[in-house]
Amino acid sequence: MLCLVAGLQRPKVAGKYSRCTLEGRGEQSIAERGAEGQDVGLKIMREIGIGLAGFGTVGAGVFLNLEKNRALLRERTGCDLVVRKVAVREVGKKRAAALPSGLVTGQWRDLLEDPRIEVVVELMGGIEQPLALILLAIERGKIVVTGNKALLAEHGAEIFQRAAEQKVPVFYEAAVAGGIPIIKAVREAFVANHFQRIRGIINGTSNYILTRMSESGLDFAAALAEAQEAGYAEADPALDVNGWDAGHKAVILASLAYGFWVPSQDVLVEGIERIAPEDIRFAAQLGYTLKLLAFIDAGADGAVEVSVQPALVPNANILASVRGVFNAIAVRGDVVGDALFYGRGAGQDPTASSVLGDLADAALALQSPRASYGFIPHTLYGKLRPASEVVSPFYLRLGVDDKPGVLARIAGLLGEAGIGISSVIQPETEAGAKAALVLMIHDAPRGKMLAALQKIRALDCVHDEPALYRVEAES
Ligand code: HSE
Repeated sequence: MLCLVAGLQRPKVAGKYSRCTLEGRGEQSIAERGAEGQDVGLKIMREIGIGLAGFGTVGAGVFLNLEKNRALLRERTGCDLVVRKVAVREVGKKRAAALPSGLVTGQWRDLLEDPRIEVVVELMGGIEQPLALILLAIERGKIVVTGNKALLAEHGAEIFQRAAEQKVPVFYEAAVAGGIPIIKAVREAFVANHFQRIRGIINGTSNYILTRMSESGLDFAAALAEAQEAGYAEADPALDVNGWDAGHKAVILASLAYGFWVPSQDVLVEGIERIAPEDIRFAAQLGYTLKLLAFIDAGADGAVEVSVQPALVPNANILASVRGVFNAIAVRGDVVGDALFYGRGAGQDPTASSVLGDLADAALALQSPRASYGFIPHTLYGKLRPASEVVSPFYLRLGVDDKPGVLARIAGLLGEAGIGISSVIQPETEAGAKAALVLMIHDAPRGKMLAALQKIRALDCVHDEPALYRVEAES
């Protein structure tokens, strides 16, 4: 759709194009210059019609920030991004952000039927309806922008297959790490790199909770309540704390980095719900900080590890200093070397910033079609390394009887499995009482470590649930 704005050969022309002259400062200033009789030339502004599905925290953020920076976006993209319809679940609901009633519909299908809508922005949440909306939008040649990480992690293969068939771009920057442009970096800036490793703190809520627990001594429930109040947590915070919000993001990043859709059901995902304050304290004594970390690595054999786990990060590693709701992603490529991305991984405005970036990309794609449809499949990788074969150091805390021979029995079982201990801490207790025994374990395959732990748990001198965490080796 074309719209002529304020490109004025002569002052009298201003009236003719005023219906397209929206509220942006850029146009006003041009119009003013035109009104003064200057010959500013004819400027053609393309309107891009947007259909917004979902008006929750992020949807409202997109709408408000689009209004706020409309003139800037016009200048930068040469297009006017115009929201034509907003599909919501409850039409009559009272909302924090005012939404012109003429735009609202209770039917997401209306976005598909409206020929003025060229880009569908899916921010509904959930799986079934967003999937149907996206597939139908692709079928009708409408560009898709989505922030739905669970949907992409589960159905990315199908969505991008259809997108490639129909030659329709699908953009999804907001799906990973909120305002950090990591998708664009991995897909475009680092296109010439083999990704050797990616480490990420990619769930702001869990990082916020862990930060509050370690710095202010809050318990898990109090820290989670704070995170929810601040609007960081998902509607169902279970996904934040059980690791799956980060798990979905890790699947998307790994799939993009290695060119095949990683099956999410085979990815090891552990959450932070069971992290005990004492593990945070022991980690600190040993010079580490506990973080929920995504591990994405390709080995020399081409197999790819993808996991999300609480891990002890050496304090000298820059990821250990990422506090609060911030996210950080450390990328190592064989050409670029190390690169670090840091920023707000959650919240209305940072996430809206990524959606708006995608909308600008959509505007550019509409002006000059591109070969990429958002995901670049290739065949150089293609195998997920089973979690049991991943080798790493570990932290192990056991509750044990404090009596002679206990350490020897535990060390014996580890030794039999070929697993070495690098250090031991046992805080002093009264003789005969129960004690915490903390072992730092040298590199070991996870499968072997778990098998040895099973035998250790069966010892009569070992009590309570053990805590086993991976240790990030690089500082
Ligand atoms: N709730 C997520 C987080 C943001 O805390 O990082 C959206 O993925």
